[in-house]
Amino acid sequence: MNPLVIANWKMHKSVEESVRDAARIAELADVRHIDVGIAPSIVWQKAIHGTLHGTGLLTVVQDAHSEPSGAYTGAVSFDQLAPFSDMALVGHSERRHVFGDSDELVALKAQAAQRAGLRVVLCVGETREEREVGDGESVVRAQIASVLDAVDANAVEMLDVAYEPVWAISGGDASVEPATTDAIAAMHSFIRSFLRERVGESHDRIRVLYGGSVKPENAMEIFAVSDVQGALVGGASLDPESFVQILEAVPTC
Ligand code: 13P
Repeated sequence: MNPLVIANWKMHKSVEESVRDAARIAELADVRHIDVGIAPSIVWQKAIHGTLHGTGLLTVVQDAHSEPSGAYTGAVSFDQLAPFSDMALVGHSERRHVFGDSDELVALKAQAAQRAGLRVVLCVGETREEREVGDGESVVRAQIASVLDAVDANAVEMLDVAYEPVWAISGGDASVEPATTDAIAAMHSFIRSFLRERVGESHDRIRVLYGGSVKPENAMEIFAVSDVQGALVGGASLDPESFVQILEAVPTC
């Protein structure tokens, strides 16, 4: 499978900025050997889907409600977004730690997104406190297990995982450092072994991305780590040129 690199624009950019920057990325990105996605603010999903139409780039949902429809004022469902989307993130650390999404809710969202026909990128990662007490792997394992327990066996083919250690996510703060390549290698190897154990041969249909302070300066070194099949990029994806430099660091064979 191609590596996958996603720009997560979080709650940034007006509609004009989003359309302009998505068009610029589409113009500059070479998508022959990489799957490239853009996750805009949900309100611009339809506009960005239109901008990316025919470019080979994917439109990604940042998050949505776990129900397909109903009396949920202010909420939006994966079903409503599916006509304008190819993929969906679930369980992003900001959803878990700012909005309180539990492992159980994330699993329901993964099911809902897949039922709406979207490939799911399950975001996982431990907090600094969890890591310091030696719970990093068990937290990540529980986050993945709750989704694997919930989705159909054949739906693993519609799943990727993004390891985003909470302590390495910049949140726009350029002084935050990514995880070391040793730490990335250790957790990606753990995730790969767990996927192999849980889903058997289909594990190689699941890409494991890294996210957390990925920038043009460190992208090549991160992509060289074994078991890293792409990246989920926040701050450094806001500038189209910087995001395209990250894409250019992906090894193409
Ligand atoms: P940064 O790249 O800004 O650390 O954000 C990572 C992230 O949360 C992407 O989803």
